Amino acid sequence: MANLFELQKKIAAVREQIETESKDLTDSKMVYEMRKVFLDKTGKVGQLMRYMKDVDPSQRAEFGKTVNELKNWALDYFGSLDEKMRKAELQRVYKSEQIDITMPAHTHVQGNLHPVTQVRNQLIDVFSGMGFEIYEGTEVENDYYNFTALNTPKDHPARDMQDTFYLSPEFVLRTQTSSAQIHVMENEKPPIKILSPGKVFRSDDDATHSPMFSQMEGLVVDKGITLGDLQGMLDVFVKKVFGQETRTRLRPSYFPFTEPSVEVDVSCFECGGTGCSFCKHTGWIEVLGAGIVNRKVLENCGIDPDVYSGLAFGIGIERVAMLKYGINNIKQLFESDLRVLNQINDR
Ligand code: DAH
Repeated sequence: MANLFELQKKIAAVREQIETESKDLTDSKMVYEMRKVFLDKTGKVGQLMRYMKDVDPSQRAEFGKTVNELKNWALDYFGSLDEKMRKAELQRVYKSEQIDITMPAHTHVQGNLHPVTQVRNQLIDVFSGMGFEIYEGTEVENDYYNFTALNTPKDHPARDMQDTFYLSPEFVLRTQTSSAQIHVMENEKPPIKILSPGKVFRSDDDATHSPMFSQMEGLVVDKGITLGDLQGMLDVFVKKVFGQETRTRLRPSYFPFTEPSVEVDVSCFECGGTGCSFCKHTGWIEVLGAGIVNRKVLENCGIDPDVYSGLAFGIGIERVAMLKYGINNIKQLFESDLRVLNQINDR
C-alpha cells in the first residue's frame, strides 16, 4: 500500500513542475503544448490516478479529491497563462503594425497637360457651354476648301497673307481652320454652331510664329446673326480666359471670307488698359480675327445669304497661351522643356 503522504508529495511535485517549467514559456503555442503534456488523457496529471489502486481504500476518496484539485488548479493555471500570452501577442502585433502618422507622405510627381492643350480645352469648355459643337477637319486640304471657297481664288492678293506649304498644285497643308467652315456648311443646313480646333501650317518662323500652330475656328449661321452676337460671344470667352475685368474692342480689318471683318482686341490684362510695355502702351492686345461671313462664302456652300447670315472667328491657340501665361517665344511651347511646362497647370 502506498502511503498517502508520499503520494501527496508526488502531486505537489507535479504542481511545482508546472509552476517552474511554465516560467520559460513565451507564447500561447508553448502554453498549449505544455498543457497537453500535463492535462491530456495520458498527461502527467491524469497519470497520477494510476496510483489509485495502491491507495488504501479508506484514503482513496481523499487521494482522488487531491488529484482533482490539482487538475482544476492546472486547468485554471494554463487558462490564465494562455490569456496572458495572447494579450501580449496582440500587443506585439499592434506595436509592429503601428502607423506613424507624423511620417511625411510619399509624394508622386504628377504630370500636367501641355499648355496648348489646356488652352484648347478651356476654349472648348467656354464655347460648348454656349451650344457649339466640335467639328474636326483634316490637316491636308485641297486648294478649294483652304482658299477658293473662302472667297480667295487663285491670284487673289490675300493668298500672300499666308505662306502656304503646297503638297501638289491641288493639295496644301491647311493654312487655317477656316476650311472647316466650308465642309460644315456644305453638309449641314442652318442653324449651324460649330467650333473647329486643329493644327495649321505656314512657312513662317520667328519668335511669335511657328510653321505649325493651332487654331480654333468658330462659325454660327442662322437667321439674323449680327456683329452684336459676335461681340457678345467673344466677350464671354475673353472674360473666362483672361479674367472678368477684361473688355473687348472690335477694330476694322480685312479677311476675304468675312465682310465686315474685324480684329478683336482685349484690354491689357497686365495694366488693366492704362498702357504698359506688354501692350506697347496702347492698353489693348490683339487676340483674334473675326467677322460676318461673306455672302459669297454662303453662296459657295449653297446657303441663301438673303435668308441667313453668319459670324465666324479664328483664334490662335498658341497666341492665347503665350498671352495668358506670359510666354514671349512660341518655341517654348514646342521644346518640351519641363522647367517651362511644369509652371503651367491651369487645367
Ligand atoms: N483664318 C484667319 C487666319 O488664319 C483667322 C480668321 C479671321 C478666321 C477671321 C475667321 C475670321 O473665321 O472670320 O488668319
